[in-house]
Amino acid sequence: MSTLQDELREHHERALIIDFGSQVTKLIARRLRESGVYCEVHPYNKVDNDFLDSFAPQAIILSGGPSSVATAKSPRAPQHVFDFGVPVLGICYGQQTMCEQLGGKVEAGDTREFGRADIEIVSDSPLFEGVALPGETLRVWMSHGDRVSKLPQGFEVIAKSDGAPLAATADETRHYYSVQFHPEVVHTPAGADILRNFTHRIAGMKGDWTMKAFREEAIAKVREQVGDGKVICGLSGGVDSSVVAVLLHEAIGDQLTCVYVDTGMMRKGESEQVISLFSKHYNMNLVHVDAGEEFLSLLEGVDDPEKKRKIIGGTFIDIFEREAKKIGGAKFLAQGTLYPDVIESVSFDGGPSVTIKSHHNVGGLPERMDMALVEPLRELFKDEVRALGQELGLHKDFVERHPFPGPGLAIRCPGVITGEKLDALREADAIYLDEIRKAGLYNEIWQAFAVILPVKTVGVMGDSRTYEHVLALRAVTSTDGMTADYYPFEHDFLARTATRIINEVRGVNRVVYDVTSKPPGTIEWE
Ligand code: XMP
Repeated sequence: MSTLQDELREHHERALIIDFGSQVTKLIARRLRESGVYCEVHPYNKVDNDFLDSFAPQAIILSGGPSSVATAKSPRAPQHVFDFGVPVLGICYGQQTMCEQLGGKVEAGDTREFGRADIEIVSDSPLFEGVALPGETLRVWMSHGDRVSKLPQGFEVIAKSDGAPLAATADETRHYYSVQFHPEVVHTPAGADILRNFTHRIAGMKGDWTMKAFREEAIAKVREQVGDGKVICGLSGGVDSSVVAVLLHEAIGDQLTCVYVDTGMMRKGESEQVISLFSKHYNMNLVHVDAGEEFLSLLEGVDDPEKKRKIIGGTFIDIFEREAKKIGGAKFLAQGTLYPDVIESVSFDGGPSVTIKSHHNVGGLPERMDMALVEPLRELFKDEVRALGQELGLHKDFVERHPFPGPGLAIRCPGVITGEKLDALREADAIYLDEIRKAGLYNEIWQAFAVILPVKTVGVMGDSRTYEHVLALRAVTSTDGMTADYYPFEHDFLARTATRIINEVRGVNRVVYDVTSKPPGTIEWE
């Protein structure tokens, strides 16, 4: 049976991004998708001739990467890419390997260039059309050590900079383009236009990837996959699982049962909101499992973050399995897996990347229960999931929601978890989010939450001494949760929020604000 991916490939123009392990390869895909181009990312060593022939892209992009073309075993693009007859764009490492493979030379630069740079456009090229004219300069983001020193035959320079005389080159006849800078990052302000010039002007793509089309195709595919079988779906109330639930409900109606597990570590009012929307408004089959006591008793005395995550993940699966058995006969499990989780990035040394945290989802369950997975969001980025939610008419409170981790407030309560700490945290978190909404900042922030610390400090309230918990506030901006910056609130906002929390929440007498970015911090505290 064909998959949704097959269907999308068949019905849309396609661009192929060949990954050489850059930290920002996913951003190339995001920029292309934003301009309506369906694209897929595949590691360089998985793209063989058969794959290329069957995927049949209209445009190919070679990503950056950490390797040096000068070293013997560094990765190369499959030769077939250059014989395939469609436009090719090499970015950074992609530029270097492209030039080297086509007969040019690459050498270690005298000056490594990292960060902002200005390039000068030196000749007319469709790559810069509508962006900058010859003689004009363009702000770009560079990040390279090696550089191209001799061009392959047929290539000419179309832009230069002080550190990179061959900042952009082109063979306009064969439609090969290469840039030393990174057009995919926001620090190259015209980067999205340059990529769009490549896909639309040079490769002649129309940009036929719309959420309306995706919705119809995804619904048809789900119907084909599940037939008249039953599907269960873990609903957390987060954006991804909410969109999956609404999409599946539209596709298969009563064949879908959602299971909402209240771990006792949800935010204030969360369970009521989920039940009211999905059960009452959408009239979905919804099983509400109130498992707070079970989770809390298993977590008693546990303070190690990884142990907490393992216990919560395991218990979640046990409960889910129990409920699925009660429903009986479900052959399918729906999950909100997204495209960033599916993209297999190449690591610097080719080995697996280290586990920073064991993320919790319902992984492991399908094998245990012999269920097939339904993952209708596998081809989408988070912002596309939000767009799909909007297309499906999902309430904006759910579409715009900040991400909330599977283990919930447990990982915002460092040290041992107690009911008393969770209650204080829930109240403080609600006040913080209320102030953020009142200030009109909710949608500017990727994620904001409070953390209750296992530290007590002395304070004075009225004439009395207090000895209570410290509460940390965290707010970050991010595009995908992989990197993040702290949000620069006005001092007045912080003071107002801190005062409200200390006055209204029992058990907290001091509030601090976390100004750590990611890296080196992570977004959550555990
Ligand atoms: P970190 O803390 O790793 O988080 O910087 C990155 C993003 O992932 C969320 N997060 C999780 N989401 N299950 C989830 O579904 C988890 O176990 C989990 N841990 C972290 C976090 O909230 C942030 O958006």
